[in-house]
Amino acid sequence: MRRPYTLTAAAKINLHLKIIGDQLSETIPPTPTGYHELVMVLQSLDLADQVTVASNDTKTIQVDCSHPEVPQGDCNIAHRAAQLMQRSFPKAWDRHGGVTITIQKTIPVGAGLAGGSADAAAVLVGIDLLWDLGLTQPELQELGAKLGSDVPFCLMGGTALATGRGEKLSPLPDVDNLTVILAKFRSLSVSTAWAYQTYRQQFQTSYITDPTALTAHWQDIEAGSLVNAVSQGDWITLGQCLHNDLEQVVLPHYPVVAQLRNICCQQPGVLGTLMSGSGPTVFALLERADQAEVVQAGIRNAIATSADGDLQTMAADLELWITQTSTAGIAIAQQRHNLS
Ligand code: C5P
Repeated sequence: MRRPYTLTAAAKINLHLKIIGDQLSETIPPTPTGYHELVMVLQSLDLADQVTVASNDTKTIQVDCSHPEVPQGDCNIAHRAAQLMQRSFPKAWDRHGGVTITIQKTIPVGAGLAGGSADAAAVLVGIDLLWDLGLTQPELQELGAKLGSDVPFCLMGGTALATGRGEKLSPLPDVDNLTVILAKFRSLSVSTAWAYQTYRQQFQTSYITDPTALTAHWQDIEAGSLVNAVSQGDWITLGQCLHNDLEQVVLPHYPVVAQLRNICCQQPGVLGTLMSGSGPTVFALLERADQAEVVQAGIRNAIATSADGDLQTMAADLELWITQTSTAGIAIAQQRHNLS
């Protein structure tokens, strides 16, 4: 039996998320696909799960994850990724037997950080290695798009402009070594489907429906200030250009998240603050890593001493992480050697 592969699966944040309109199928007549046409700038983080993929001789797919909020069976996107590989490569499945996937969760769940998508991406890469399939990055991304809109980016990693429903990717120059503070209330999670549906209910009348206008909008963003800032390594402008349309529905629904975002903004040295994806995680960008602990303490202190009773009672629920922007999506984990 082949040796197992352990992979690191990076979380992502959205530096930009613009909703253009309802996505239409390419059929005649075009019909809504249920997804949105987006323009996003996506960024990988050092914060990562560890996913081990091993062959077993049970002819079944087993997912082992001790995190209480990670669903079991085919509700788990990592499980669906293995099923997709089984269906797509039946001969390899017959030859190698079943698959056991072990997930060590570090990325918070239901947080807008693509933790599930990253695990699914790692399963695709792990099974590709385990079965010696030799899939190319575009082939892996095509499979990934069948599982979820963020999976292709999780496979690619780094910094990218994403269009379509998030699966059409163009790499951007690396945003390497910026410090990122992530802040999330442990008890809050947001359903991505809920966030997009609520946005549709409130803003559908302003959706762009004309395909020419849609292309013009992409070009506009591509040449826009955020992409320029990334290309030039201008982190002050990058911090000023952060944008996420989903904040318009998630923040009014979760006022404590809006307050958390304001508190992050006010900390010294913070270049910019935004909610990631459909939330509720808020991130703050910093140029200097040595400021991170002061900022983290400032956020905790502002919540613990807030005059707003609702916010103050959330102090014990607050989780903070210090991480960095990264150039990697899925990577083979270093083997740990015992040096003694
Ligand atoms: O692709 P994924 O499974 O992550 O999407 C979850 C839900 O988010 C979709 O069912 C859809 O309701 C919404 N979504 C959307 N437009 C996108 C991506 C996601 O409306 N581009």
